[in-house]
Amino acid sequence: MTKRETFGSSFGVLAAAAGSAIGLGNIWKFPYITGENGGAAFVLVYLICIALVGVPVMFAELLIGRRTQSASVGAFKALAPKQAWFLTGWFGVVAAFMILSFYGVVAGWTLNYTYLSVTNQFAGATPEQISKMFDSFITNGTQPIFWQMIFMVMTAFIVLSGVKDGIEKYSKIMMPMLFVIVVVLAIRGMTLDGASKGIDFLLTPDFSKLTAQSVLVALGHCFFTLSLGMGAMLVYGSYTGKTQSLGKLALQVTLADTAIALLAGLAIFPAVFAFGVNPGQGPGLAFVTLPNVFNQMPGGYFFAIAFFVLLAVAALTSAISLLEVLVTFLCEEFKFGRIMATIVATLTSSVLGVLCALSMSPTSGVSKLKFPTLAGPQNFFDTMDWWSSNMLLPLGGLLVIVFAGWFMKPADVRDELSSQGLYAVKWFKAFQIAARFIAPIAIVVVLVAKISGKIS
Ligand code: PFF
Repeated sequence: MTKRETFGSSFGVLAAAAGSAIGLGNIWKFPYITGENGGAAFVLVYLICIALVGVPVMFAELLIGRRTQSASVGAFKALAPKQAWFLTGWFGVVAAFMILSFYGVVAGWTLNYTYLSVTNQFAGATPEQISKMFDSFITNGTQPIFWQMIFMVMTAFIVLSGVKDGIEKYSKIMMPMLFVIVVVLAIRGMTLDGASKGIDFLLTPDFSKLTAQSVLVALGHCFFTLSLGMGAMLVYGSYTGKTQSLGKLALQVTLADTAIALLAGLAIFPAVFAFGVNPGQGPGLAFVTLPNVFNQMPGGYFFAIAFFVLLAVAALTSAISLLEVLVTFLCEEFKFGRIMATIVATLTSSVLGVLCALSMSPTSGVSKLKFPTLAGPQNFFDTMDWWSSNMLLPLGGLLVIVFAGWFMKPADVRDELSSQGLYAVKWFKAFQIAARFIAPIAIVVVLVAKISGKIS
């Protein structure tokens, strides 16, 4: 067997794993769900979910990956031979296909919006025109497909270049760049006249706005934003050197992910309040509300470009981890070469992505098709999102954490978390309690609430 490729440096591992976690989930989705769920109280619940559920599941994925030196399906086959646990890996692969399909479409929007801001096409447009621009773009059919294809080719190019010379190399360039852009944008946001209302909205909790639904939204988002429940962190764990501290890595990734989400909030909400727009806009927050805000802001031309480049870069480092899950799966389970696996995985998810894009275009037959979800019939795009984000990721996370908490020998778990005794893992008991009780119970509650229709 050829030796498994590993990341070259600890900064490289961190950049790649944080690159996977930090994505559209942080900069596009986190601000708008915070807006829809009333602000700071939601943020607080989200932070608790990240600490109690997200961190333990991330430990579990990283340790299973590094211990077995395999991607998900292979990892469970190695640790639990002849048992059904390997299905966890299969769920992850299905989730990766589904997520990559709609993720590629939204990432394509970010490329188009980068282009629109560079060519200064928002200048002088009224709020109605900006909103119409977004609607007519996403319902156009061909244009979103064009940008999605460009994005998928970029993703495939990086994955094709390999773990060290592709994923690690580009993450090491893109992540610091992303960090600088988001800090600049947050400073801009916080120094706007009238910024304080937005900062309060994000940071001063009003618990009367919190509902059971928002608690469950927070827990659900914790999987998506940390790239958990589908084997992405597991695969990256398998590329992590034996002497790295997995505990430190997981904490750094989680902190970076949380920091970027909060910074994105600080970039967006002060501006939203300063210019008197509604924070509970929903998915249009980044693409409709913000171009309006940039239009009214001094230096808005440059900040608009910076913002959409930020979104595109964040999307790219996440998409490569989604594609990597599919590529390692094809290589390990079906003995594909890396090139062939990348081509097959990219083509398949792009075709699904085309269907996602077309499902928003009223002139296309695909938009007439509705698919079942537990929240009622939805179009293809929303169906892919609903099943993967709401069901497959929490289910995958549950299986991984139950496996690490209850089925693996505690001595093995400890051995891996401590890098064969290299690091003292004084927090091991706390991890076990979270892995055995807190995280599984929390996840089961969310899944049951969703399945019983208590939340949508
Ligand atoms: N964590 C990414 C985000 O927040 O945008 C999305 C994602 C990437 C989810 C990779 C799952 C995954 F495996």
